[in-house]
Amino acid sequence: MTKPAPLDVGFVFNDFPMRTGGKTAVRRGGDAQRQIGTMSVTSEKDTSDRGLSIENLSMRFDLPNGSHVQALKDVSLDLKQGELLSVLGPSGCGKTTLLNIVAGFLAPTEGRIVLNGHQVFGPDAERGMVFQQGALFEWMSVRDNVRFGPDMKGMPKSESAEIVDHLLDVVGLQDFKEKMVYELSGGMQQRVALARCLANDPDVILMDEPLGALDALTREKMQSLVLKLWKETGKTIILITHSVEEALLLGERLLVMAPRPGRIHKEYRLPFADMGVGADLREVKKHPDYAPTREEILNMIWNMEEEIMGRTEENA
Ligand SMILES: Nc1ncnc2c1ncn2[C@@H]1O[C@H](COP(=O)(O)OP(=O)(O)OP(=O)(O)O)[C@@H](O)[C@H]1O
Ligand SMILES: [Mg+2]
Repeated sequence: MTKPAPLDVGFVFNDFPMRTGGKTAVRRGGDAQRQIGTMSVTSEKDTSDRGLSIENLSMRFDLPNGSHVQALKDVSLDLKQGELLSVLGPSGCGKTTLLNIVAGFLAPTEGRIVLNGHQVFGPDAERGMVFQQGALFEWMSVRDNVRFGPDMKGMPKSESAEIVDHLLDVVGLQDFKEKMVYELSGGMQQRVALARCLANDPDVILMDEPLGALDALTREKMQSLVLKLWKETGKTIILITHSVEEALLLGERLLVMAPRPGRIHKEYRLPFADMGVGADLREVKKHPDYAPTREEILNMIWNMEEEIMGRTEENA
């Protein structure tokens, strides 16, 4: 079977107006003001030189038995402020390791992370994380979860209350403010997790399988929400997923990683995320490039997994 040629389809806009809470703001480009709906985040800095660089990253885990795992080898990547990158790859190819290094939870054996011109040495509120599940404070109310970050920063209560109200509105949970987290469904909890992450106003949002535990319908709704938040906030987002469809729909850039050692195998630039903002994602899937790209990536990952299985059987 002839495989379709790799896509490098365009439609990547540099500057375009967006609607935020009735006002028009500009996502990306040189505009120094970003808006989260009515919450305005003003920066003196020119945003044109802002972005995330992953430079020659390698990670080797030394094991107690004297062997080691080369989880990542020489991974390099530049993301401009406001880009949305999805990352796919077979299990064990180093996706979580990569995200943990960008988050500052792990120090790489080689290479470095540079965000907006400064090197990353540990966790910081400028890099927010959304996990698959279980990262909320279950014994606290939705409101207290969302305002946790602002409270820790010492923000006045009246200000954090405004942020909480606004963000719960954005994620569609205004009526659930007083509920305890354990009273919510999985989808609602992930909405709280997104709001809590945004309340810290991070530059970069890191998501490791954030929708992986949800049922299909809830997942589809959440995919639309992620696109909406991306477009309205201008945040840089890295989203790891096992779903090829999700990676295609949500990544304006899509990275396929390969295992042993974990490395970048192929990168795509895709039009679907931009198309999916405010549109029915099922309509986006009808784009003529969608199905061939999905098949190409599925084959790619299938072949990698077959190769891993082959190697494992040889070693058995
Ligand atoms: N703390 C650790 N100590 C030793 N090995 C580790 C550690 N963390 C990860 N690894 C190994 O590094 C490799 C990459 O792991 P990682 O969790 O990053 O993969 P992944 O792509 O996120 O996989 P999955 O899709 O299953 O979540 C794996 O072989 C894993 O066993
Ligand atoms: Mg993982």
